[in-house]
Amino acid sequence: MAQAKEPLPVPSPSLQSTGKAIIVGASSGIGAALARRLAAEGYSLALLARRADRLAALCEEINAKAGEIRAISYVHDVTDYEAVPGLLQKITATLGGLDLFIYSAGILFPSGMSHFEFEKDRRMTEVNYLGALAWLNPVAAMFHRLKTGQIVGISSVAGERGRVGNPAYNASKAALTCYLESLRNRLTRRGVHVLTVKPGYVLTEMTSGMKNLYFAISAERAAADICKAIHRRKQVIYTAPIWWLVMFVVRNIPSIIFRRLSF
Ligand SMILES: NC(=O)c1ccc[n+]([C@@H]2O[C@H](COP(=O)([O-])OP(=O)(O)OC[C@H]3O[C@@H](n4cnc5c(N)ncnc54)[C@H](OP(=O)(O)O)[C@@H]3O)[C@@H](O)[C@H]2O)c1
Repeated sequence: MAQAKEPLPVPSPSLQSTGKAIIVGASSGIGAALARRLAAEGYSLALLARRADRLAALCEEINAKAGEIRAISYVHDVTDYEAVPGLLQKITATLGGLDLFIYSAGILFPSGMSHFEFEKDRRMTEVNYLGALAWLNPVAAMFHRLKTGQIVGISSVAGERGRVGNPAYNASKAALTCYLESLRNRLTRRGVHVLTVKPGYVLTEMTSGMKNLYFAISAERAAADICKAIHRRKQVIYTAPIWWLVMFVVRNIPSIIFRRLSF
């Protein structure tokens, strides 16, 4: 397991190497599915999250399948903001550059209609939004300087409207969506591509035990949609695509009706 302060294994130089990518929030769910898919496409990967065992198992699986070192893990908590610039520098040196950066880290604490708790809201804001800013600022600066690169942010349909269910989760995703749009508008003129991903329900640890998961898809299906969008340099995608239509309707429900709805 590669920790920030230990000597790092160097990925095998692969003739097939498609590019070099960082995935933050890669130990499970959508991030892990993206890691498997990008590794199969030939990417060299740095995989980050807090759970060392899960990251180690994923790297082992990917490297065994590839027959060479294609994924390296870094144990990291995204709320350790000060560690980010140094870690980014160390990872890019190890990978030999960076082509693609994906921020998939996120948490959701279930919240009842009469539940109000600052501590949980702060945690969600820190992981879903502030952690993203901590990473996206130095990554954007690097890509801006290099005039190339791709950034992917996993936001959510939850950020499209202030639904009653989970105000702070919704707000953290709305903030991330808006930030990614601003970043895109800044960086497009430098040749840097920014993709905002808005998943609906995806069957991952985040949604396990939840009921009424309409139009739910697997993490593998979400990863396939995201990879296709990366290759096509799309700006915003919904996965599954049906959520584009659902959210078009939801966005246009007048507030006088919307505030009486219970979703
Ligand atoms: N599942 C859905 O229905 C759905 C819908 C819309 C949007 N999303 C978004 O999709 C993204 C991925 O979620 P998922 O569904 O794949 O859930 P997941 O399986 O729970 O994955 C969440 C990932 O975030 C990482 N993470 C959480 N806190 C972290 C921290 N403090 N530092 C570093 N990494 C952290 C987790 O790793 P560790 O716990 O090992 O740190 C894990 O790798 C999230 O941003 C989520 O909000 C999910």
